[in-house]
Amino acid sequence: RGDENGYVDIDWDTLGFGLTSTDYMYKMKCFKDEEFAEGKLIPYGNIELSPAACVLNYGQGIFEGMKATRRENGKIVFFRPDGNALRMKKGAERMCMPSPSVDQFIDAVKQTALANKRWIPPPGKGSLYIRPLLLGTGATPSVAPATEYTFLIYASPVRNNYFKEERAALNLYVEDQFDRASRGGVGGLKSITNYAPGMKPLTKAKNNGYSDVLYLDSVTGKYVEEVSACNIFIVKDKIISTPPTKGTILPGVTRKSMIEIARDQGFKVEERQIAVEELLEADEAFCTGTAVAVVPVGSITYQGKRVEYRAADTNSMFKKLLSIYVGIQNGQIEDKKGWIVE
Ligand code: COI
Repeated sequence: RGDENGYVDIDWDTLGFGLTSTDYMYKMKCFKDEEFAEGKLIPYGNIELSPAACVLNYGQGIFEGMKATRRENGKIVFFRPDGNALRMKKGAERMCMPSPSVDQFIDAVKQTALANKRWIPPPGKGSLYIRPLLLGTGATPSVAPATEYTFLIYASPVRNNYFKEERAALNLYVEDQFDRASRGGVGGLKSITNYAPGMKPLTKAKNNGYSDVLYLDSVTGKYVEEVSACNIFIVKDKIISTPPTKGTILPGVTRKSMIEIARDQGFKVEERQIAVEELLEADEAFCTGTAVAVVPVGSITYQGKRVEYRAADTNSMFKKLLSIYVGIQNGQIEDKKGWIVE
């Protein structure tokens, strides 16, 4: 099932962030008004759906993103999986879906990681990205919650960084024509419907040489919200600020952890609205997310004006926080808060 060290035979140095299919996926089903009861691991493969499945027709689906990492001592660990489980529960409630309990969720991601253990990269080479999906799979030709739900988890080995810049700074384009989320909508949860509308602005930005798009609030167009796949922070005079997660911004597990790590280090962290002008005048900016981890922002372009940050500076806040975050994950820094789950 693996080489002499228990690994699948692939070149770990050339991992990307694309899909490398693994051996098993996890599947659990339930009907409307019932609870999820028993799931199981099945061989990885395509799934069959009714053409009238609610998720295909009306987008009734949410997902999570997590990483299983291998430590030098061979232990396989997750970072704060309860945060993902709770976020899925909250998202399910908004999308009229039943959801697995926190224990069921954590048990299922553990089973998926262990069943695909030979695909978990060697320490430092990346992680096994785990993608739990909660889908309305029952047929509903009319607009109504599905009659049947599927909780599905698949996994793929990925390199450390989501962006091809790999630890280099991101060049962000501030999007002022398209919005990501609106008041009362689902921008604050991992609804599958939040991502396709961002593909057009993202493609345009990438074609123009940017790494990603930074969205503004849809009411005034003045305040910074988030990047397509991560949250944003600024640093000015050693004070760290990030927009508040009040419905239109995804409450990232890495975002929350970064706030706690910074406060524990004695830094002041403010969760408040940040005007674009303030971002342009910041000393530093960085992004956080499960897939991206913690990455510095190298430049921001807004209405034709480009501002560059001192991302590579050895005294940068991003480097301090990243080293603590990585240290807790790889076991070199004591996990005082019980964030690591083996
Ligand atoms: C993650 O950070 O895990 C995410 O789910 C973002 C994703 C859109 C790549």
